[in-house]
Amino acid sequence: MSPRKIVVGVSGGIAAYKACALVRDLKEFGDDVRVVPTPSALNFVGAATFEALSGHPVSTTVFDAVDEVQHVRVGQEADLIVIAPATADVMARLVAGRADDLLTATVLVATCPVVIAPAMHTEMWNNPATVANVATLRERGIIVLEPAHGRLTGKDSGPGRLMEPAQIGEIARTILSGVELPQDLRGKKVVVSAGGTQENIDPVRFIGNRSSGKQGFALADIAVHRGAEVTIVAGDTDQLETPPGATIVRVRSTRDMEAAVHKHAADADLVIMAAAVADFRPVSQADSKLKKGADESALTTITLTENPDILKGLVEKRRAGEITAAIVGFAAETGDHESSALDYGKEKLKRKGCDLLMVNEVGDGKVFGEDRNRGWLLGKDGSVTEVDDGSKQMVAAQIIDASVRFVS
Ligand code: CTP
Repeated sequence: MSPRKIVVGVSGGIAAYKACALVRDLKEFGDDVRVVPTPSALNFVGAATFEALSGHPVSTTVFDAVDEVQHVRVGQEADLIVIAPATADVMARLVAGRADDLLTATVLVATCPVVIAPAMHTEMWNNPATVANVATLRERGIIVLEPAHGRLTGKDSGPGRLMEPAQIGEIARTILSGVELPQDLRGKKVVVSAGGTQENIDPVRFIGNRSSGKQGFALADIAVHRGAEVTIVAGDTDQLETPPGATIVRVRSTRDMEAAVHKHAADADLVIMAAAVADFRPVSQADSKLKKGADESALTTITLTENPDILKGLVEKRRAGEITAAIVGFAAETGDHESSALDYGKEKLKRKGCDLLMVNEVGDGKVFGEDRNRGWLLGKDGSVTEVDDGSKQMVAAQIIDASVRFVS
C-alpha cells in the first residue's frame, strides 16, 4: 500500500508544540506527512523541527516555490488534512473561505476529509462567534473534534485544551480507513458503560476482570463526534484518557454501575453496555483488611451471590415503558466443543432481549486490553454482520452505524 498523504496544518497557539507528537505518531504508521504551519505557528515551533520530523520542507506562504503552485499540488494530493491545533482565528478564516496563507489556501483546494482539533481559551471556545463558526464548519462536512477539558496555558482550566495527539492520530487513521462521522446523533443522548466492575472482598482486595474499557471509550468518542451528548459510566478503565466532549461517571461495583446506568438511561436515546460486569459479588465485604491466621477462612472460602443483570434490567424497564432508549449489548464469548462463539452470541441476544449485540471472542489474549477487536453484530431482526479486524475506534464506528437504525 502506498503511503497516504496527510497534511498537518498547525496554527498559532501554545499547543503547536503538541503537533510535533502528532506528526511522529502519524509517521510511525507509515504515512507521508507534510506540515503546513501558519506564520504565527512558527512563533511557537521552528520550521526546522517540523522539517526534521516530517522529512519535507516547510513553508507558510503561496509565494514559496511558486513554480510548483504548492497550495494546489499539496491540497489536491492530500488524502487527509488535520489541523492541530486549530485556533479560533484559523477556523474563522476557513469559514470565510479566506486563502491568506498556504494552509487556508490548501484547505480551499482540497477535496479530501478535513479534521480540525481546536485549542484555545475557554472564553474563546464559548464565544458565540466561535460557536457559530464550528457549527458552520460541521455543516460543511469538516470534522471539528471536541477540545479536551483541562489545564490551559496559564493557571486556568476548562474546555479548550488540545485533544491528546495520540487520540487525534487514532481519529485520523479511522477517517483514512473510510469511516465517516455524520452528525446523525446531534440532539441525542447516549450512555456507554465501559471497563470492568470490581467487587470488594475487604478494603484492599477485590474480584475483578481484565476488561480495559478501551472499546467503551472508543464508542463514546465516535458518538461524541457524531454529535451526541455522551455519558460514560466507567468501572475500572486503566486510567484511559476520557474522550473530550464526554461526561464521565466513575463507579466500582456492579450495583453502583446499575444505579448510574439506570439513572442516565432515563432520558437517553441509546444505551450501550460495553462494560464487563462482574456477575457475582462476595456475600459479605469486610470493613477492615482480612488477616492470615485470624480471618483465614474468610479468605480461603469466599461465598458469592449473584449481581443484578444491568442489561436485562434495562430491557425490562423499556418493556414497562419507563425508558425508550435503543439498547445495545456486548457478548464476550469463547467457543467450546459444544458451540461456537457466534452461536453462544445468538443465544445471548435472545436471552438479553436487546436490539443489537456485538459478539467478540475472548480468551488467549484476544480482545481484552488489546487495541483491536473483531466479531459479529447481531440484530434482533436476525441480521448477522461480520465486523472485520480493526482498531477499537473502527469497530466502534461500525457498532454506532448499526445502532443508529434503532434510535428513534
Ligand atoms: N451485563 C450486565 N449485567 C451483568 C452481566 C452482564 O449488564 N450482571 C451485560 C454486559 O455489559 C454485556 C452483556 O450483558 O453487554 C453480556 O455480558 P457477558 O458477560 O458476555 O454475559 P453474561 O450475562 O455475564 O453471561 P455469561 O457470563 O453467562 O456468558
